Amino acid sequence: MNIRENIPLSTLTTMRLGGPARYVAEIADKDDIKKAYAFASEKNLPTWIMGAGANTIGKDAGFRGVILLNKIRGTEIIKESPDELILKGMGGEIWDDFVAFACQKGYSGIEALSGIPGTLGAAPVQNIGAYGQEISQVITEVEAYDTHERRFVTIKARDMKMKYRETIFNHGPDAGRYFIVSVTVRLKKGTLAPPFYRSLQSYIDEHGETDFSPENIRRMVLIIRAAKLPDPSEEPSAGSFLKNVTLKSPAAIAAAKENGYPTYQKPDGSTIINSGWLIEQAGLKGQTFHGFRVSDKAALILINDSAKSYTDLSAARNEIKKTIKDKFGYELAQEPVEIGDKNED
Ligand code: EPU
Repeated sequence: MNIRENIPLSTLTTMRLGGPARYVAEIADKDDIKKAYAFASEKNLPTWIMGAGANTIGKDAGFRGVILLNKIRGTEIIKESPDELILKGMGGEIWDDFVAFACQKGYSGIEALSGIPGTLGAAPVQNIGAYGQEISQVITEVEAYDTHERRFVTIKARDMKMKYRETIFNHGPDAGRYFIVSVTVRLKKGTLAPPFYRSLQSYIDEHGETDFSPENIRRMVLIIRAAKLPDPSEEPSAGSFLKNVTLKSPAAIAAAKENGYPTYQKPDGSTIINSGWLIEQAGLKGQTFHGFRVSDKAALILINDSAKSYTDLSAARNEIKKTIKDKFGYELAQEPVEIGDKNED
């Protein structure tokens, strides 16, 4: 196990913020997981699990404990039949490589999740979703290291309590408890059917697309994302910085529709308002707050142009949230997690 000392969180996260982490341990296999937790408990230090840092914000004080970087690699076909593919990937695999492999083989279930930055191990933690798909729809189980019981366990999909960007892994009493070793998904032969998520449907209509095969959906999603979402290696960001608003009651849904706000009913039946639309209507697109710029292409994305400190981020967030609250009455919530925080909002 490779352990480095005093590594700035700004170099480990795509938003490029944050002071030093006391230790950073690179986890290459299951044995390293045990060693890293033993190392932390020997020194009585807290731990924090990270993949590619694409959905994680570092704070100015850094992290006084041990960051565990999941670098466990490998993908394995568990079952392949004419109807389905059961695919298992290790947590340190790059998510998009896993998607590309599934699409090439012609199985459907994660093609709309093409182009999402980050690792496979991080995907179930926040139940990644895009263009109408969520990993919750295809995940069957994960293998994880249970840091409380200090043993490897299998967690079945039904026990993950997956909701919009929320699971047992990032929310509630077990947040941060499990180090995800591998993720297994069940994919089906076949193609998605319209209607698609609004922005994907617009692309399909505009270009007269009729092929909805996994490979072609992947191709379209990659084009849409490239046109809208900043590449974190060029413009630092943490993907969507704010969440869409989940409307909790029929009355709230009716009120939003009456006001003409764009709503979307997700496959799980819940309804969201596109917060990007609210931000755009409030005139915030392209505006700069304390060194952060609201993307002029996708309003949920906050780009770090010149900020060096979490204090700036906090000030920018408060101003954007207040504008939306004052104008529309909705309380927007931050999407990325913060190192040292259990992400319980
Ligand atoms: N919209 C606007 N203005 C904007 C952005 C969006 O009016 O600047 C409205 C439009 O009506 C548009 C709709 O919102 O049709 C949807 O926009 P988009 O497809 O860009 O997606 P999103 O709802 O803004 C979510 C996810 C993204 C994911 C996309 C695609 C969240 C927090 N974000 O954004 O995920 O890629 O859908 O499905 O749910 C991420 O989580 O980091 C992320 C990038």
